Amino acid sequence: MQSEALVIVMAFATVAASGLKHDDLIVAVGDRLEFLTDGSTYRTLALDSYNASKLSALAYDATTRKLFFSDRHHLYGHIFSVNLGDESHLVEDIVERNTNETVESLAYDPVRKMLLWTDWFNRSIRRVQLAKEHIHIEEKDGVEIVHFLEDDAKPRGLVFDPCMRMLYWTNVYKSRPTIERSFLNGSQREILIQTDLFVPNALDLDVLDQRLYWADNLREDDYRTFNIERSFVNGTGRQKIYRGISQFVVSLTVGGDYVYWTDYNHKKLWYVRKDGSSKSSMMLRTYSRNPAMGVVVYRHEPLKCGSLNTPEIDFEDAVDIETKKMYIIFVNLICLVMVGMVATLTFRFWKFTGCKSTLVPSKSKKLFAFQNFENCRSSITMSERTSTQAEPVSPSSTESVNVLLTNERHSDTAALFKYEF
Ligand SMILES: *[C@@H]1O[C@H](CO)[C@@H](O)[C@H](O)[C@H]1NC(C)=O
Ligand SMILES: *[C@@H]1O[C@H](CO)[C@@H](O)[C@H](O)[C@H]1NC(C)=O
Ligand SMILES: *[C@@H]1O[C@H](CO)[C@@H](O)[C@H](O)[C@H]1NC(C)=O
Ligand SMILES: *[C@@H]1O[C@H](CO)[C@@H](O)[C@H](O)[C@H]1NC(C)=O
Ligand SMILES: *[C@@H]1O[C@H](CO)[C@@H](O)[C@H](O)[C@H]1NC(C)=O
Repeated sequence: MQSEALVIVMAFATVAASGLKHDDLIVAVGDRLEFLTDGSTYRTLALDSYNASKLSALAYDATTRKLFFSDRHHLYGHIFSVNLGDESHLVEDIVERNTNETVESLAYDPVRKMLLWTDWFNRSIRRVQLAKEHIHIEEKDGVEIVHFLEDDAKPRGLVFDPCMRMLYWTNVYKSRPTIERSFLNGSQREILIQTDLFVPNALDLDVLDQRLYWADNLREDDYRTFNIERSFVNGTGRQKIYRGISQFVVSLTVGGDYVYWTDYNHKKLWYVRKDGSSKSSMMLRTYSRNPAMGVVVYRHEPLKCGSLNTPEIDFEDAVDIETKKMYIIFVNLICLVMVGMVATLTFRFWKFTGCKSTLVPSKSKKLFAFQNFENCRSSITMSERTSTQAEPVSPSSTESVNVLLTNERHSDTAALFKYEF
């Protein structure tokens, strides 16, 4: 205990001297959430509004202030959310448990409101769109599959880059562990790292620096040696930033200056400088009863993509289905109303003129491509042209209709007509 206190004191001294700053963190410990501020003060949050048991797989969305998590031992629920901006901390059950699926890691895309996770049991990466508030779905229906991985795959870590629109994951299968990426729709899948990997359990991304950070537990049997590593998002520039012993890393997060991880063996939360300049790892917290199964940076502001060369977000892709449906219905309604109006007015106009003087006012001449003054049939044809040519929502067609209406009583339209040509 004394040596631990010493480590903490030393850690603070180092922090003070270097001007580096701790990020605020959210840690999942047993059935509780812990909020750690400035690396020193902490408060715990018991999720009283539901029967929590073993929280893990944290993902935090600063735009909605929602924390997503999984509860491994919960009987019915699979993925939950809690609104941290709201004092009541009401827990919502978002995805119901189906059979044996597990949620290893969660990621969230605030642009498309897409929640993604790695499923170990059924070797897949799955996603669900949170198109509206208070959504509740059963694993077997509302869920889409991004990747159904090879027979022996065991997907574990997962992170999404909201700026560059890329998904990254680790596969911890014994014979061929990998770190991979693809687009959100599963296309352009690519293996980034596949050598010198053992059990790459935890993964995170420094979005602004475009670097991946991961923890690799070297020996699965006795859980002793581990590496904390990083590379550019394309897999190049790989760098070992820390090598330690006698820990089993279960989750990892990268902040402004440090990378943090939780250790299952000693139930501790550790950190090192993310640039690799730390000689030893430093400890932030020890938990007495349960190991911390998840840790994530508690960002108070949504991430700004800033100077990153972000791809254009495909509008079709970004609009959620509900909104798209509403939009189509709306446009259809407008079209119907317009067609109705034009038809009514045309009918009135036709009745009023008694099929004789279909003289054209100057402004609406674009609607009347050609004229035949001799019979009613042609004026009906002409009216049909009017309705098909009318653009559904543009104000100019409304204007033309009005012009048509006011000019019905114009006595000298013939003269006008002449001048215009
Ligand atoms: C709470 O969950 C535990 C296991 O996760 C279960 O044994 C217990 O019966 C549950 N309690 C209630 C009130 O649902
Ligand atoms: C779930 O796991 C149990 C125990 O491993 C197994 O007996 C059962 O068949 C599995 N269920 C499905 C649907 O695969
Ligand atoms: C795995 O997922 C697929 C696709 O959702 C599903 O058809 C299949 O039944 C699942 N397998 C198990 C064992 O649950
Ligand atoms: C998948 O997403 C990418 C990037 O958003 C896009 O360029 C590509 O066309 C999409 N592919 C399919 C099949 O939709
Ligand atoms: C990988 O990314 C780094 C850093 O952005 C860049 O310097 C390098 O050229 C990239 N390599 C390839 C093969 O794209």
